[in-house]
Amino acid sequence: MIPITAIINNASMNMIMNQYKIAVIVGSIRKDSLNKKLADAIIRIAPSGFSFMHVLISDLPLYNQDDDANPAESVKRLRREIGGADGLLFLTPEYNRSIPGVLKNALDHASRPHGQSVWAGKPAGILGVALGAAGTALAQQHLRNILACLDVPVLGQPEAFIQAREGLFSEDGTIGPGSKPFLQNWVDQYARWIKLHVTLIEEVS
Ligand SMILES: Cc1cc2nc3c(=O)[nH]c(=O)nc-3n(C[C@H](O)[C@H](O)[C@H](O)COP(=O)(O)O)c2cc1C
Repeated sequence: MIPITAIINNASMNMIMNQYKIAVIVGSIRKDSLNKKLADAIIRIAPSGFSFMHVLISDLPLYNQDDDANPAESVKRLRREIGGADGLLFLTPEYNRSIPGVLKNALDHASRPHGQSVWAGKPAGILGVALGAAGTALAQQHLRNILACLDVPVLGQPEAFIQAREGLFSEDGTIGPGSKPFLQNWVDQYARWIKLHVTLIEEVS
C-alpha cells in the first residue's frame, strides 16, 4: 500500500518538476461550439502546473477496421497526442441523447488496432454544455460507458451538467460570476484526480 503522504509528496514533486499534460477532446467541431468555449474558459481557471492541448478530431476519416494496418496521418497524430498526455479532458455536446458521432469516431480510432489502445489508464474528466435543461447528462453517461470499456478512470464527482444560459460566459469568454464557484471547484477536483492518478501510476511502474 502507498502511504497517502508519499502520494502527496510525489504529487508536489511532479508539480515542481513538470507540467501535467492534458489532451482536450471536444465533441463538437463547429466553429462557435459552446463546448469549445467552455473548454477554453476552463483552461483559463485551471491550477498552475497543468498544460492543455486541443486534440483535432475534425480531420479524422470514418473509422474502418480495414485501415488498421495503414492509418491516415491524422489518425497517427491523434494516437501520438493521446499517448503523450498524462490526462484527458472531454467536453461533449449531447446529440439525440448520446455523444456526437465525431467523438465516438475519435474514441474508436485511438482504441485500435486491437491491443494497442492509447486510452488505457489515462485519467479523465467529463464536462458538457447543452441548450437543454438536462445539460448533456445522458451524453455524459454514454461517454462513461465507453470510457469504462477503454479502461479510462473518470472523475466521478462532482458531475457538471451545464445548460447554456445567459451569463454562463462573460463578454471576454471567461466563466460568468454565477457559474464560476461551481466550475472552479470542478476543475480543482479534476486537477487533484489527475495528480493522484499520475502519482499512483509512477509508484507502481
Ligand atoms: C444533431 C443534434 C442533436 C441534438 N440533440 C440534443 C439532445 O439530445 N439534448 C440536448 O440538450 N441538446 C441537443 N442538441 C442541441 C445542442 O445542445 C446544441 O446544438 C449545442 O449547442 C451543441 O453543442 P456545441 O455548441 O458545442 O456544438 C442537439 C443538436 C444537434 C445538432
